[in-house]
Amino acid sequence: MKRKLVVGNWKMNGDRARNRVLLDQILGGMPSGVDCAVCVPFPYLAQVNEILEGSGIALGAQDVSEFSDGAYTGDVSVAMLADWGVRFVVVGHSERRTLHHESDEVVARKTVAVLDGELTPIVCVGETLAERESGVTEQVLMRQLDALAAVLPSAVLQRVVIAYEPVWAIGTGRAATAEQVQAVLSFVRGWLARHVEAANEVRVLYGGSVKPETAEALFGLPDADGGLIGGASLDAPSFLEICRAAA
Ligand code: G3H
Repeated sequence: MKRKLVVGNWKMNGDRARNRVLLDQILGGMPSGVDCAVCVPFPYLAQVNEILEGSGIALGAQDVSEFSDGAYTGDVSVAMLADWGVRFVVVGHSERRTLHHESDEVVARKTVAVLDGELTPIVCVGETLAERESGVTEQVLMRQLDALAAVLPSAVLQRVVIAYEPVWAIGTGRAATAEQVQAVLSFVRGWLARHVEAANEVRVLYGGSVKPETAEALFGLPDADGGLIGGASLDAPSFLEICRAAA
């Protein structure tokens, strides 16, 4: 059985002092039997890399450039992330898709860049509330996933992590129900089965208002391989409880 993966996405939060306290608490209580990563803001990669060294908790970033180098002011390349020990990169988070107008094609090209750099992309997909209410959730997911398959051969696609994050559940305190999540994860797994050889080996995560009280039920779903945790990853006791639910 696959070990579950719990990824904390700190978003644009933290400072050097708070990062140190949070990570000391997390390192002091991390259970075995679960894979864990924290995706931190760019300025703190070096600090967090040093703190996590030898700990078994992986370092992650929240975005990356699709380009390898050059005149892209403000952007950060995959090689730069790798240089600081990054192993996971969140790609296509809904906040990037919405606030930075990242299209499915841009997300797909960033995913290619991450894979080319031998890091692991965590590709976020998910529908808005309006899309769910109009009954087009599966079409939206299909469009987002098909953009990946259009540029990635099956053997490479096999190495992605997919995070299903319904946009209406992110940061709202309104997690999707276990039934809603399982229905979509199963759809994602079906899509994977048509595009990669070992669909069951690809990790598919759920993200969106995961809390200690809801984690166990969500991680126990047949097609869930862990979670992408926003708000609750900033509180060590909550994050550790979520990790324990996955262990
Ligand atoms: O990347 C994490 C997700 O956006 C979930 O955030 O747990 O604060 O809802 P949240």
